[in-house]
Amino acid sequence: MNYRHAYHAGNFADILKHLVLTLSIERLKVKEKPFQFIDTHSGIGGYNLMGDEGTRSPEWRDGIDRLWTAEPPEDVAAILTPYLDVVRRMNPDGDLRSYPGSPLLASMLMREQDSLRLTELHPEDAETLRDNFRRDKRVKVEMRDGYEAMRAYLPPPERRGLVLVDPPFEHRDELAHMAKAAMKGIGRWPTGTFIFWRPLKDMENTEKFDDGLAEWLLDDKDFTADQLLMVDMWVREIVEPGPLCGAGVVIVNPPYGLMESLMTALPWLTEELAQGEGAGWRLNMPELAIEEDDEITIDED
Ligand SMILES: C[S@@+](CC[C@H](N)C(=O)[O-])C[C@H]1O[C@@H](n2cnc3c(N)ncnc32)[C@H](O)[C@@H]1O
Repeated sequence: MNYRHAYHAGNFADILKHLVLTLSIERLKVKEKPFQFIDTHSGIGGYNLMGDEGTRSPEWRDGIDRLWTAEPPEDVAAILTPYLDVVRRMNPDGDLRSYPGSPLLASMLMREQDSLRLTELHPEDAETLRDNFRRDKRVKVEMRDGYEAMRAYLPPPERRGLVLVDPPFEHRDELAHMAKAAMKGIGRWPTGTFIFWRPLKDMENTEKFDDGLAEWLLDDKDFTADQLLMVDMWVREIVEPGPLCGAGVVIVNPPYGLMESLMTALPWLTEELAQGEGAGWRLNMPELAIEEDDEITIDED
């Protein structure tokens, strides 16, 4: 286990994933009833961008740093505000130094009555994660395999909530592994919201994951097409093999209004985060009238 998220915290991929997470949590908060957030691959919780990793690998400079000073149009700003407000609360003097991981982001958005279950397999990171939430009674941290934990935790006692599955993709068979876990998890809790992160790298297997899940949900599980949403963003043309330049999430049971919000925010977000020619985004629901994608041409002068 060599992957450490501290080298990547706040990059473009984190932004899309954390925006989807924020919008999903905000939707759950519309009702007073408590809900649970399950983070199967948690990382350490939050990140010091000025630390060794953030300095040696400043991916956040082309991510959250760009949004920090940007001025989005009003409709986009309204969608980004809950997410950016958390980052602002972490950096109250106006200098960007800290960035929330998914556990901290969720915990700062969630209420007294809600609960969080966090798993992390890396022993040192799990210890840091535990330390970071020691005083928060809503949070339970366990050092264990996230896929196996997901099965054990589902369905949550609240019967409301969401699951984030965000593995490091260190192994070639991670997508296959995630697909199996997805089926088991959704099988145990078909009404829950699930967010599966995946890089846009190995496109053949990415499509296999997306199509396989769609087929299983629609054909075997009688899900309807609007219960599955794929959203991707790439910051320049995807070249394989090469460094990560695109990523996205597959959302099962997407919250009401999520697709519309993403459709509003993505064109601006992609333009803001583009790192070269061929940047683009796509939103996709299987077998639906809605299939949006857009490629943005950037002048590099
Ligand atoms: C991409 S990072 C998570 C980032 C975090 N979700 C966020 O958005 O801030 C993936 C994490 O999963 C951990 N990990 C790897 N394999 C795992 C497993 N089988 N179960 C739980 N955690 C695992 C890694 O140590 C790493 O910290």
